[in-house]
Formats: sequence, C-alpha cells, structure tokens
Amino acid sequence: MAHAPMIAPSILSADFARLAEEAAAVPGADWLHVDVMDGHFVPNLTLGLPVVEALERATAIPLDCHLMINDPDRWAPGYAEAGSRNVTVHAEAARDPRGCARDIRAAGALAGLSIKPATPLEDWVEVLRDFDTLLVMSVEPGFGGQSFMPEVLDKVRTARRLVDTGHLHVLVEIDGGISRDTVEQAAEAGVDCFVAGSAVYGADDPEQALEALRAQAAAASAHLGTG
Ligand code: DX5
Ligand code: ZN
Repeated sequence: MAHAPMIAPSILSADFARLAEEAAAVPGADWLHVDVMDGHFVPNLTLGLPVVEALERATAIPLDCHLMINDPDRWAPGYAEAGSRNVTVHAEAARDPRGCARDIRAAGALAGLSIKPATPLEDWVEVLRDFDTLLVMSVEPGFGGQSFMPEVLDKVRTARRLVDTGHLHVLVEIDGGISRDTVEQAAEAGVDCFVAGSAVYGADDPEQALEALRAQAAAASAHLGTG
C-alpha cells in the first residue's frame, strides 16, 4: 500500500441532530462516510440530498456518499453535483453501472461501485474499469453496529492483487463491522480505506478512536507492497 490507510467515519452512528458538530469531532478523517438509504434497496431510511448539501456546506472533510437506494442511475449525479468527493452506487441496484460512473465523474466526483457480501467480485471486474472506488460490504447493508463478515476478505485480496498488478485502478474500501478487533485482518487483506461507524462515533473520543484504527491498520499493512 503506497499511502497511509484512509479512515472514513460513518455518520450513521453520529447524532443526526448535530451533524456539523459530529463532523468537527473527527478532524483527522480522510472522508466522511454518508449512508443514504431509501427504505427499499435496504430496510432502513436515513437521509437524502438536502442533508448532504447542508453537510457539504458545514464541513471541509470530503464527503463519501454511499447510496443504498434503488435507481441510483437517476439520483447519483445529484450527490456529485452537491460537491461530494466520492459517490458510490450498488452493483445490485444500478441498471447501467457504467453510465452511473460516467455521470458521477462528469459531475466532478470519484465514482464508486459497492458489492454486498454475497455478490461475487468476478462478475464486476470488467465494469470496475470505469470506476475509481470499490466498496466491499462486510455486513449486509442497512444498519450500523453489525458483526464483521471475514469471508468477504477473499474479495479484498483479489481486488488488491488486480490493483497491484495494474489490471484495475480502484481504491479498495471496506464498510461494516470495522473495529479494533477487525481492522488488522482487513488491512492485511489490502484495504486502502476503512469505513467505521460505531467504532468511531460510539467512542468517548471519536478522533482518538479513528487515529487508533489508522495506526493499527498502518502497522498491519506495513509489509504489503514490499513483496
Ligand atoms: C451499513 C453502512 C455502514 C455503517 C457501518 O449499511 O453502510 O456504513 O455505518 O457501521 P459500523 O461501522 O458500525 O458497522
Ligand atoms: Zn456505508
């Protein structure tokens, strides 16, 4: 891994009535992960574009919007136009993932593709050539605070190998159940960017919690890329 591990705290575990303050509580965050859920693609409902636009004005931390919604083809460009750094759509929801990526990029953001735990990576490798980010879900999307699914790490290892051999050019991101207990195995598998909700915002000191995760990930991945 060429760079220090990235940490993206998920505001799903923050206080939705105080989002600006919650963003300010993690100044060391590389990205702020925003879980957009529509009550259809996942059985939970969170927030949408107006909140993302307000959050964009309230923080300098780049926003990482994770769209767990149906018809992302229609809605994803708006999140990019709002100023998000990265906008991720689900492979299982997009009608035309390549078209999504093109529209997201045209609106000025990085384009991400997410796959649920049971979705094979192999089916999406060609499509991923048009994306900047691969978000590997390590829980079933929908809720924070679930247990990490280590079986998805095989997909992370495969993606890492494809990136390191120049076959893909994506940032490898993982989402779900990342904590002091699981961050090292994810780092060893080759993750670049770690989403963490409850492990950051459930801590007494969110900033200290995210820096602790980063230090653990850095130590665990120190051998990667050295052969
Ligand atoms: C789950 C969301 C995650 C969630 C992770 O569907 O995509 O981003 O916030 O929460 P933790 O880190 O608590 O598993
Ligand atoms: Zn997420």
